[in-house]
Amino acid sequence: MAALLAGAAIASPLPQGLDFAAIDALDPVPTPSIPIVNAAAAQTTITFAATLAASSVSAAIQANPTDTTPKMVKRVDDSSCAVQPAADDTADNFSSNTAFSDAANGAVTPAGWTLAYANQAGSSQSVYGYMGYSVLSSYDTAACTAECDAIEGCSSVNIYYERDPSVDPTSTCTNPPSSTAIKCVYYGGPVTASSATNDGQWRYDFHVVIAGSNGYVNNSIATPSGYSGPIPLGNAAINAPLDCAGHDTYMGVKIFTSGPFDAGLCAAACSSQSEYNLAHPPSDWEAQTCQFFNTYVLYDGSESVGQYCTLYNETWPASYATNDGQWRGEDHYTIGYSYAFSNSTGGADEPATCANAANP
Ligand SMILES: *[C@@H]1O[C@H](CO)[C@@H](O)[C@H](O)[C@H]1NC(C)=O
Ligand SMILES: *[C@@H]1O[C@H](CO)[C@@H](O)[C@H](O)[C@H]1NC(C)=O
Ligand SMILES: *[C@@H]1O[C@H](CO)[C@@H](O)[C@H](O)[C@H]1NC(C)=O
Ligand SMILES: *[C@@H]1O[C@H](CO)[C@@H](O)[C@H](O)[C@H]1NC(C)=O
Repeated sequence: MAALLAGAAIASPLPQGLDFAAIDALDPVPTPSIPIVNAAAAQTTITFAATLAASSVSAAIQANPTDTTPKMVKRVDDSSCAVQPAADDTADNFSSNTAFSDAANGAVTPAGWTLAYANQAGSSQSVYGYMGYSVLSSYDTAACTAECDAIEGCSSVNIYYERDPSVDPTSTCTNPPSSTAIKCVYYGGPVTASSATNDGQWRYDFHVVIAGSNGYVNNSIATPSGYSGPIPLGNAAINAPLDCAGHDTYMGVKIFTSGPFDAGLCAAACSSQSEYNLAHPPSDWEAQTCQFFNTYVLYDGSESVGQYCTLYNETWPASYATNDGQWRGEDHYTIGYSYAFSNSTGGADEPATCANAANP
């Protein structure tokens, strides 16, 4: 319930298209900056879900890119920048290292997961529901997804090689020797190919770059109790017509901006909307109950805006999933990770027959 209240719980009746008034009222999805492993402050700021507390986040790992058994890094004092990088210790050399592309292209997609993208030179950014990261000792996709499975709410991962400074670059040590970190980043929302755009940064003269970046998404999404589904709707949202008696079945929208993505949030909204309506019935008509919802990640370009839930008083089949996005000026709002769920005991009306229409 706390999460529900924290979300922008705006029930706005019409129209059914994207509710831009509600969208404008949202807090932006936080943009985490995943720390460079050797940055002094970075190691202390990462908090993991409680379920991951047992699994240790290893300290930075220093690896020779050609060495498949990376070694633990020893924090080196900045003043020791006397160690100069090898002649071929450059970002270009890192980016063209075939050991990384081979590992990424050859990685096994774990059972139950789908590969979203492979061997990109960027890590994912602006993905919904950032949940932290681990540094791995090898490019192990199974370990990375298993770790995600252990985190409640985690549904996708990004694994990649990162060229990190072995000591923090300073004005007197602008381009220290590199070390290689293998990062596994956890998300409570889907990584997408178009999100793999974070291609590094400069720290003084040191160039942090990414290689062999792969994204994986868990194939299944949990079904909230009391509901049946999910019906996968891909990149489209339900756009229900009026029912056969000419009445609108749309009951409004709820949007959440603090992940992880969770159909249970919409289910709670749907069920509690019904409870409220039944407790406060209109004087002249039957109370409308929520029997069906569609939830998805709403994107503005490649950035996630939030988890969107649309509520309906009857169940609509996947054939009505025809809204694949909307333009507002220059902004293209699109839909991804769309699923529908239906009250499993409600006996909701089927629009083709209107058999159970509550009102004539
Ligand atoms: C430069 O790249 C080659 C492979 O392309 C690799 O063998 C070598 O270790 C790299 N050097 C450094 C310092 O990263
Ligand atoms: C995927 O997600 C489901 C539902 O949240 C979870 O039960 C499962 O452990 C996850 N992993 C796999 C491989 O299905
Ligand atoms: C499903 O609908 C029925 C009938 O309106 C209602 O009693 C029940 O609470 C609903 N279930 C959920 C999970 O909201
Ligand atoms: C849904 O709500 C509309 C408008 O209030 C109403 O006319 C219609 O009968 C309701 N449908 C169901 C299945 O309750």
